[in-house]
Amino acid sequence: MTLSTESHDKPTVPDIETDPYGFFEHMRRAAPVWRGTLMESDLMPPELKVAENWTLFDFESVFTAFREDTVFASEMYNNTIGLVFGPTILGMHGKQHHDHRSLVSKAFKQSALNQWEPEVIDPICDQLVDEFKDDGQADLVKALTFEFPTRVTAALLGLPQEDLEMFRRLSLDLISITENIEAGLNASVELGTYFQGQVDQRRSTMTDDVIGDLVAAEIDGEKLTDEAIISFLRLLLPAGLETTYRSSGNLLALLLTHTDQLQELQADRSLIPAAIEEGIRYETPLVLVARNTTRDVEMHGMTIPEGAQVNLCMGSANRDDKRWENPNVFDIHRPRRAHISFAGGIHSCLGMHLARVETKAMLNSLFDRVTDLQLLDDDDTKIEGMPFRSPKHLPVTFRPLA
Ligand code: HEM
Repeated sequence: MTLSTESHDKPTVPDIETDPYGFFEHMRRAAPVWRGTLMESDLMPPELKVAENWTLFDFESVFTAFREDTVFASEMYNNTIGLVFGPTILGMHGKQHHDHRSLVSKAFKQSALNQWEPEVIDPICDQLVDEFKDDGQADLVKALTFEFPTRVTAALLGLPQEDLEMFRRLSLDLISITENIEAGLNASVELGTYFQGQVDQRRSTMTDDVIGDLVAAEIDGEKLTDEAIISFLRLLLPAGLETTYRSSGNLLALLLTHTDQLQELQADRSLIPAAIEEGIRYETPLVLVARNTTRDVEMHGMTIPEGAQVNLCMGSANRDDKRWENPNVFDIHRPRRAHISFAGGIHSCLGMHLARVETKAMLNSLFDRVTDLQLLDDDDTKIEGMPFRSPKHLPVTFRPLA
């Protein structure tokens, strides 16, 4: 594979969406700091396109960029997803980010998670598997991995049960915005109106749920505005729901194709946390995120100019052999070293503990109810996509446990 390290063009690697990892390995060696992009977005209005696009491939550079948030800033989100979602925490920095994050964090505090796990998350996952366990077969993406984060998110937000169908439809439209812009934009508006109604209800009668916590959250007399709450709620769909459904689909796909490790996990549930981390390292649901440089910056002997858009390629950093031995092997027993799929620095994932708890509950509910899980041959079961990756379907057969 020969690639110009000076190229501006998306490389014509034939299988970049299907299997980018060979290309990533090549880039970590040949051009870990590369002037070029994998993501030529058709959604970006021409006036907002930047002259310089760069991509970081090795762990050290990606990690450094996450940490150096004043140089690798995230304000360009305000001109991309911000146009659809409204101003979100992702595009904020400094005191504004700190204050806003402190406010929304109140809704995701550890004590809430401890309560949600047995009261909300476990029962939802149990009920979901009960719905299909006697059928002997299912598409685990449709029946389980998309469905459990949708139901958990709706329940945690405190949405009425009868709104679940609408919430599912709008969530799907919003996160599919790159495939259907019009449907995505409509969903964003509809969700905005819907969430405004939910916020208004809580302003008159307070409820014990995430939206109630966001309405009540206060630091030094400062409260979140309605606009901030609604933008945050919209953000939770791609940030929380989509990532979790894709990462759990990836983990199931990996286990179903590494059946020795699947059997070990079924026999010894204490391995589940390690399996979740390894799944997220090996096949991150979100391959890269973007930053914009606020000044010229030197990395690996290259000068990234001020005003460049820089993609931090977490999918590549997670396979860096300077950090992991045999990084291209999926191994739930590998010595634990933190991966970078939850980002780092001030924007590190706010929902990582929730994602872990949800995924553990999903696996436990499945393993408690079915056995002999076997993946049916199907092309759509491959993990693919860029920048989001996961299998489209996971058709399986199984035997219900008594
Ligand atoms: C496996 C599942 C997940 C993955 C891989 C993931 C990954 C990430 C990444 C990479 C970022 C940083 C984005 C950037 O800096 O550009 C992020 C931020 C964030 N995530 Fe997650 N996420 C996951 C689950 C969740 C869940 C369940 C929630 C719901 C609460 C959530 C909420 C957020 C929020 C609010 C931010 C923005 C934080 C900030 O800007 O300060 N994520 N996540």
